[in-house]
This record gives sequence, C-alpha cells and structure tokens, in this order.
Amino acid sequence: MAELREVQITEEKPLLPGQTPEVAKEAELAARILLDQGQTHSVETPYGSVTFTVYGTPKPKRPAILTYHDVGLNYKSCFQPLFQFADMQEIIQNFVRVHVDAPGMEEGAPVFPLGYQYPSLDQLADMIPCILQYLNFSTIIGIGVGAGAYVLSRYALTHPDTVEGLVLINIDPNAKGWMDWAAHKLTGLTSSISEMILGHLFSQEELSGNSELIQKYRNIIAHAPNLDNIELYWNSYNNRRDLNFVRGGDTTLKCPVMLVVGDQAPHEDAVVECNSKLDPTQTSFLKVSNPIPHSPGKLTEAFKYFLQGMGYMASSCMTRLSRSRTASLTSAASIDGNRSRSRTLSQSSESGTLSSGPPGHTMEVSC
Ligand code: BEZ
Repeated sequence: MAELREVQITEEKPLLPGQTPEVAKEAELAARILLDQGQTHSVETPYGSVTFTVYGTPKPKRPAILTYHDVGLNYKSCFQPLFQFADMQEIIQNFVRVHVDAPGMEEGAPVFPLGYQYPSLDQLADMIPCILQYLNFSTIIGIGVGAGAYVLSRYALTHPDTVEGLVLINIDPNAKGWMDWAAHKLTGLTSSISEMILGHLFSQEELSGNSELIQKYRNIIAHAPNLDNIELYWNSYNNRRDLNFVRGGDTTLKCPVMLVVGDQAPHEDAVVECNSKLDPTQTSFLKVSNPIPHSPGKLTEAFKYFLQGMGYMASSCMTRLSRSRTASLTSAASIDGNRSRSRTLSQSSESGTLSSGPPGHTMEVSC
C-alpha cells in the first residue's frame, strides 16, 4: 500500500506548469479587472432566458446589490450614471453587483418574433431565483427604478428571507384603474410609444425643457433597435396588478426600504401613497430632482445612510458632514458583523427630503 505523506501546501492557488509567481499575479489582476468591467451571463428560466451582468467579486457575509431597470432603458442606460458616480465607488467596492436586463433589453438583443408572449412583471420577478441560484448568492439588496422597482417589490413579497433591503425609485405599486386606461388609450392615439415612455421617465416640465439629457434619452429610445421589445416590457408594466401593500398586513415589505421619488415625477403621488402603506419604522422617503441622472450625489449619500442603518457601512466611510449629522441620529448602526435593523433616517431640506423612523428626526442630504 502506498505510504501516506504529509505535504505542506504553501500556495493558496497552485501555479500552472511553467508559471512564475509574477505571471500568476498578473493573471489574477487581469481576472479582477475583467470582473470589475462586468461579466455578462444568461440563464434559462421557466419564462425564457434572462441576461445579467456581474461587477466585482462576492464579499463574504454581504448581500449582492441587484438592480432592475425601468422601461425604455437597460441596466447601463439606467444605472451607469449612479454606479459610476465618484462618491458611489467607496460604497460599491464593498459589494458584488448583479445588474439584470429585462428580457430583450440587453445590448444587441434580437427582436422577439411576432406573437411572442412577453413575461408579466410577476413572471419577471419569478426569474430572479434562477439568477441567484446560478450565482450561488443567498441574499440581496435590491435597487429598482419604475417597472424594475415593481419587479423587485414583487420578488421581495414572495421571497422575503432573501431581501435585506430595497431602494425603490419612482415605484407605482398600483394597477392601472379604468381612468388611467382611458387616458393611456387617448395618449396612445396621438403619441408614439417612445413619447409615452418618455412621459413615464420624466416630468412634463423636464420634457418641455428639452434639455440635452432629454434629447439624449429621446434619441436612445426612439432609435432603439429593440423598440418592439421595449413595447412588450411597456405593455407588461401597464398590465401590472396591484401590489396591494397593507401596512401591518401580510402583503407588506418586511425589509428596510428607501423610497425615492423625483420632484414633479409622474409617480410622485403613487410613491407618497406607497410610503403610507409600508412600515414606518422600516421605510425612509427621499424626494429629489430626477434621482439618477440629475441627483446621483444625493442618492449616493442617502444610500450610504441606508446601508449604515443596516450595519453595512462603517461610519469612517461617511463624508465628514454626513458623519457629524448621523452621529446624533444613528441609534444602532454599526460596522460589519454587528448589524442592527433600526431605522435611522429622517430628513428634510428644500432640495432633498428624506424621512422615516421616529418622528422629529430631521437632517439634510448634503450633496
Ligand atoms: C457597476 O460597477 O456596478 C456598474 C458599472 C457600470 C454600469 C453599471 C454598473
């Protein structure tokens, strides 16, 4: 019988034959750069294939940040201005990010054949477990915009144990009523799909201002090679059913939620109503001018507070101003490994308003 010998292993990762430690290091660096640039994957689900892009590497004991974009956009056009914002870097480097593209919205997506049954928003939410299973991720912090915020909320209702927190931007949790339908049909008689989608993404004031930003988005949507696919996602959004949030009831979000709405956004009333239906001890509310393209600074700072409230951001990572303000307000936020769930934020200013938690706490988002 062969004699067993103790072998001392000194290299964590064995070198390949002929590979020097320097070459191995370079290969590791190249792999890391590749991961930081985003790796796109697709998985099959019961409702068709879904594509997502992963940035960064999984961090032990930390949820993944998972994003879901709005109609008319994809993960890049929706989230790049936020995730590439300078101050956001110190936050996201601590998390692996999974950016989901709704089916047919990924770059270069072929147009679906005529008669293709596009998934409902509920079915889009049901695709998320396949993504997490593929990546072997157990929990997420979701960031969703518009239709994407609805999808993530639906997912959180059906899989509450896997959602540690939600940032919901411009969410409308209500199904369209018959009045909305009538208005929608009338608008459809005089406007193109791309104009209707722009009316969903921006306020009337922003649209009539026709700034460079509006022209850019108008151009992206009107000339999208997958405009037919976009129309299918738009139809699913308009056919959504009510999320039926009931404060204190079974159909409510159990995790910390940061609700964000754009100033004069078409969804302002819906988000305010949504705020009234969620648990006030778990929900913060931020109102800023068009959150992602116009106010990534405010959103970033509010997101830092949100993560800190969940115990994921050490206060040493906060900006000096934020730190001095939070010091008197944060009752139980702590650094890694000592997480607590107390809500800490309540803010109000003429340009950025964030509120939640015990009444009477106010502070400004200062970016
Ligand atoms: C990210 O780092 O997560 C990211 C980069 C580019 C676009 C969107 C997200």
